[in-house]
Amino acid sequence: PAQELRYDGKVVVVTGAGGGLGRDYALFFASRGASVVVNDLGSSLVGGGASHSAADSLVEEIRQKGGKAVANYDSVENGAAIVQTALEAFGRIDVLINNAGVLRDKSFAQMTDADWNLVQAVHLRGAFLVTKAAWDTFRRQKFGRIIMTTSSTGLYGNYGQANYGSAKLALVGLSNTLAQEGAKYNIHCNAIAPIAMSRMTESTFPAEVAPLLSPKCITPLVAYLCHDSCAETGGAYELGGGCVTKVRWERGQGHVFKADASFTPAAVQAEWGAITDFSHPYYPKTITEVNWMELLERANAASAGPAHQGAPLRFD
Ligand code: NAI
Repeated sequence: PAQELRYDGKVVVVTGAGGGLGRDYALFFASRGASVVVNDLGSSLVGGGASHSAADSLVEEIRQKGGKAVANYDSVENGAAIVQTALEAFGRIDVLINNAGVLRDKSFAQMTDADWNLVQAVHLRGAFLVTKAAWDTFRRQKFGRIIMTTSSTGLYGNYGQANYGSAKLALVGLSNTLAQEGAKYNIHCNAIAPIAMSRMTESTFPAEVAPLLSPKCITPLVAYLCHDSCAETGGAYELGGGCVTKVRWERGQGHVFKADASFTPAAVQAEWGAITDFSHPYYPKTITEVNWMELLERANAASAGPAHQGAPLRFD
């Protein structure tokens, strides 16, 4: 069997660790030698109320098993306080798992400002604030591992989840940029789209599938991505019930139009097949791999003369 990956001496912050996936992450990291900050506001699924009991009982359980953990009850909207708990209790922070979340599912027609704002605040702004608070430490120590929790709803959309899906895809954008900005400091950031039975999904999945969709099937990938030995950064993964798959953007070859007056809506219509064709795809990982300069040169080369001599585009 492969050698056990350990986290001795590491300090791991898990947001929203009072239940569901976060609880399993915290138990796992503590069992492998890490010191864990168990953050949970203890709110309801839709974001009301607050209670210390979920975080406290998990910290107690970890300690009884011989592990090291402290509780923190701040909302991720108060990210600096969560990181402060790690620094005060353990003197450092190495791994940050942005996991806290709430739902306010409604059709877009029914969705209120409050439904939108709460979900954006917890998922997107919360992840921003906690990560921002840890960033300087990660840079200084030239080590950091960050997980952003996205969702298949973010990647593909889902009925009744405009607030949640938009926040979740934004986290992929955040993750991709942090992966690039963090690269030279050995700060790695990856996004996961989990599928698991928790209070968040108990009304989505039938009870029979619960044993197949354990949170325990999410932890191994998260823990691997957060290990010293893992070089992966800027990735996104869908996983659940033992399946783990990387997802990425696919780009076709497209069609290059002459950059002149012949480039009309009707020309777009005529080339729709080529524009939407994926038979020769490529998979850009960074913005520089979408080579706009080359595409512009091709567009100019396709013109009858130098581009600046072409008729200007007209939209009247
Ligand atoms: P969960 O509801 O069991 O866990 C979320 C935890 O976050 C709760 O313990 C809650 O008290 C805490 N929380 C809520 N607001 C908070 C705040 N402002 N500050 C700190 N903590 C707060 O749900 P689950 O399934 O474990 O979700 C974990 C993450 O995985 C979430 O980000 C969720 O959106 C995401 N996810 C889960 C899926 C699933 O199939 N379970 C599917 C896709 C994404």
